[in-house]
Amino acid sequence: MAEAFNDKILPAEKAERYATVAQEIASVLAGEPNLTARMASVSSMLAASFEHFFWTGFYVVDPDKREELVVGPYQGTLGCLRIAFGRGVCGTAARERKTQIVEDVDAFEGHIACDSRSKSEIVVPVVDADGRLIAVFDVDAEVTGAFDGVDAQWLERILQDTFAG
Ligand code: SME
Repeated sequence: MAEAFNDKILPAEKAERYATVAQEIASVLAGEPNLTARMASVSSMLAASFEHFFWTGFYVVDPDKREELVVGPYQGTLGCLRIAFGRGVCGTAARERKTQIVEDVDAFEGHIACDSRSKSEIVVPVVDADGRLIAVFDVDAEVTGAFDGVDAQWLERILQDTFAG
């Protein structure tokens, strides 16, 4: 197996970078209610904070369809346009409303390969202030094992503060 990314970055350094970007996101978005602007800015700022974030962005719940995600603001190569709830890592996060960490996408049954360079990923559900699921946030990396509990904790916190705060 390829060397896991977390062997090379200290959890404390990772947490420090998340803390910095969390503050920056809050300050940039203060007073901006537009959802697209908020999602686009979160994608851009998180992608710029970590070199290994290869695809960083949102799949939003399509209000016109039953249980279907449609691609939203993102940074990275072309992503799939639509993902049904329950399909792939994003669809699983949406259905279960639970963060998914996949250390090796090839070992995840039903993973949707939008780009074969993607080797590991994390997907976090995004809910609004009323507790409704509005999107999932997906980060893919070109290395296996890029994401752990530190990523989950910080991404959940940033998304909660930004979209349900
Ligand atoms: N990896 C995702 C698909 C979306 S992209 O990789 C951009 C999944 O299996 O849900």
